[in-house]
Amino acid sequence: MADAPHVPLASLTGSAHPAVGRALSSPAPASSPGVKDLLLPGRVSKSFHIETFGCQMNVHDSEKVAGVLLERGYSPVDDPLAADVIFYNTCSIREKAAQKVFSRLGQHRGPAGRGKIIGVLGCVAQQEGEEIFERAPWVSLVCGSASYRRLPDLLAQLESGNRRVMGLDTDTEETFETEITRRDNPFRAYLTIIEGCDKACSYCVVPYTRGPERSRSSDSILREVRELAALGYSEIQLLGQTVNSYRDPAPRALSFADLLLAVAETPGIRRVRFTTSHPRDFGPDIVAAIDAHPSICDHVHLPVQSGSTSVLRRMLRTYTRDEYLEKIAMIRSARRSIALSTDIIVGFPGEDANEFSETLSLLDLVQYDQIFSFKFSPRPHTPAEHMDDALSEEEKGSRLTTLQERQREIQLRRNQSFAGQSFELLVDNRGHKPGQWAGRTSSNRVVNFASPRPDLLGQYVQVRVTQAGPNSLLGDLV
Ligand code: SAH
Ligand code: SF4
Ligand code: F3S
Repeated sequence: MADAPHVPLASLTGSAHPAVGRALSSPAPASSPGVKDLLLPGRVSKSFHIETFGCQMNVHDSEKVAGVLLERGYSPVDDPLAADVIFYNTCSIREKAAQKVFSRLGQHRGPAGRGKIIGVLGCVAQQEGEEIFERAPWVSLVCGSASYRRLPDLLAQLESGNRRVMGLDTDTEETFETEITRRDNPFRAYLTIIEGCDKACSYCVVPYTRGPERSRSSDSILREVRELAALGYSEIQLLGQTVNSYRDPAPRALSFADLLLAVAETPGIRRVRFTTSHPRDFGPDIVAAIDAHPSICDHVHLPVQSGSTSVLRRMLRTYTRDEYLEKIAMIRSARRSIALSTDIIVGFPGEDANEFSETLSLLDLVQYDQIFSFKFSPRPHTPAEHMDDALSEEEKGSRLTTLQERQREIQLRRNQSFAGQSFELLVDNRGHKPGQWAGRTSSNRVVNFASPRPDLLGQYVQVRVTQAGPNSLLGDLV
């Protein structure tokens, strides 16, 4: 598999059930200029713009969708209004995220969108389906992530004059792989190893929007890792909604821990990350792999969602507070010191003051390096949508603030303990001021430092920490 030359993707912003399975196509009305007219062979510039919302899996899906478009002769442009094909790769995890796309679509109403292919991809596409055409009739493609393997075919239908096409099938064994993947970062590569989710957390749309679990074969993963290494990528981030539930369909049936080791063994690969792990499937073999191979990063993202067993039961998370804490103890017993991060939902239906205080006490016990915290948002088709959501938005907001303040103190104390220590960084960003750079440690901590060198992006450097804040560290090059 070849990688396309590195051109920054137009715009990558940001931070699952019943098969509908059909392609709806209707011929373009004779009076309106069809997409066909714009995309006739010989037309010089066929351009595309993709804007992405949501998780890293969405970001990576957009990289693959961009590959599909490049293969068909489109080139990326920054301005959505100047593009022939405009795709929004959407997220519906919380209501706010889902609403964003409709304001974006509004830009293309009327003459602005005429003759263009405007598509809605991702989790809102899967969730809203045909409704999107009703709310925004100028949209011509609606496709959920489990149907992306059909994208070339759907695009061909649009190019040959069909006005509306849909891919909403989730009933598939296949994963989405492309000949060309237009990766946005030249040194850190995302790689999806398992798609969909077979868990059934009562608040979550993902099993509905991304379909059932499908793992990619280890042979195909390792082949791509070798190609990525040959192209100069040194960090691989393995992705999945429950990445550690990976089940190799290849005959040699590598476990997730074996796969981590095999990726880490690949010449040229210096760092292997993986996200997101589900606590129930997190076994000692993963900790042993981290201990065994320094290239496997010493960081585990293990979403807990709540510190209260009764809330966890209502969330259908399949573990108790104590079982989660046993997993944490197992991770803490590793020879390497492993950084921990988590996701937390506050204000789940019926969460009382006592249950919330158990989440606060869990923070004190675990001492996470980072948390991502959210107010519960009722989502369509999920069991929690109909649970009694007695908490007001104000109360949820105030719990969120309390939680984040508690964590801020923990992070500040933890970060201050790193003063004087040296770490290896992969430099991945420029700082705000000239001569400033930012990089990540293996444990995923951000360290800022100054250097007059112009060429540090993608390089590994050694820094010594001089100052610490709650969210980042400051250091000097060693
Ligand atoms: N697969 C991952 C997380 C997927 S979504 C896991 O199992 O942990 C990322 C995070 O969004 C979740 O961990 C959860 O904290 C949050 N989230 C999901 N649904 C939500 C909802 N309905 N309201 C608020 N937060 C939600
Ligand atoms: Fe959603 Fe739960 Fe699956 Fe994570 S494990 S994606 S929270 S259903
Ligand atoms: Fe959002 Fe879908 Fe990812 S709902 S978080 S984009 S799986």
